[in-house]
Amino acid sequence: MLYNFDQLLMLVNSEIDNINFDKQPAGLYQPAQYALSLGGKRVRPILALMACNLYSDTPQQAMQPAIGIEIFHNFTLLHDDVMDKADIRRGKPTVHKVWSPNTAILSGDAMQIIAYQWVAQCPSAHLAEVINLFSQTALEICEGQQYDMDFENRDDVTVDEYLEMIRLKTAVLLACALKTGAIIGGASDKDADLLYEFGEKIGLAFQLKDDLLDVYGDPAKFGKAIGGDITCNKKTFMLIKSLELANPQQKGQFEAWLNKTDFDREEKVAAITALYNEVGIKALCEEKINEYYQQSIAALNGLNVTSERKAELLSLADKLMYRES
Ligand code: IPE
Ligand code: IPE
Ligand code: MG
Ligand code: MG
Ligand code: MG
Repeated sequence: MLYNFDQLLMLVNSEIDNINFDKQPAGLYQPAQYALSLGGKRVRPILALMACNLYSDTPQQAMQPAIGIEIFHNFTLLHDDVMDKADIRRGKPTVHKVWSPNTAILSGDAMQIIAYQWVAQCPSAHLAEVINLFSQTALEICEGQQYDMDFENRDDVTVDEYLEMIRLKTAVLLACALKTGAIIGGASDKDADLLYEFGEKIGLAFQLKDDLLDVYGDPAKFGKAIGGDITCNKKTFMLIKSLELANPQQKGQFEAWLNKTDFDREEKVAAITALYNEVGIKALCEEKINEYYQQSIAALNGLNVTSERKAELLSLADKLMYRES
């Protein structure tokens, strides 16, 4: 049968709820349970299951790797929140705040291993291919995260460098989820690659949107503090492009804030946001998001499956474009 988003979400959540984290030492497993129980959108496992469902009536075949990918995603967030000094996620204090940075590091390490255990439960016919894709993806995410940090200290990052960085830190995991589901469902190599491409494009749009919401989102819906990227001098599309478009006076103001080491957080966020508004960067960023959204749909259109079967994936792509959380 064809499953819709809500049905797949229920299946995913019930798998995650059944994971036994009631183990010792509690200081290692409780933070993992805390992070995973706060939900989030569960986009990645659902993408995997939907991709599988394009080719098979039993998307549950891809459930173990799908859950592994979601656990892996949550692991990256534990470490990312330490690296980004982020105090709030999914509307709750982050693991390194509730416990400590050391706990976030080690529980994250454990989650990464648990993630591998889940992915390794993939149907044996596809195990090698799925594990290789997952390992390659995991390493690419590390590369993306390193670029993300390196860029904080550079003032000459280009839009192309930014796009490659977000492809690595974010897009490849969505792409991996889709391709994993496709492989397990029995897709042709061509379709599996097209789904990977769909994931990359929708992933670029997804991170551009995340960066936009980091400035313009509603904290109650977004679940994270607004202005985190501005505080860290993250080289987002909005910042890079704004610097290109700024007049000399605006450029001077941007640079003064970027170079300040001692500042009031709220004041810096308000000042940079005001400059973004002057330059009109929100609309430009939305255009860029739409560009990748269109490219993602083009990849979907190339699949050798009926439009009826593709409808749920299309509607999820749509939902991600209009998301506020
Ligand atoms: C957050 O991912 C990290 C990014 C890649 C932007 P999500 O926005 O998918 O986070 P959750 O899982 O829904 O909380
Ligand atoms: C996250 O990017 C990418 C990974 C976790 C690999 P961000 O740092 O923008 O994600 P958020 O905004 O903290 O969720
Ligand atoms: Mg972050
Ligand atoms: Mg980050
Ligand atoms: Mg972000």
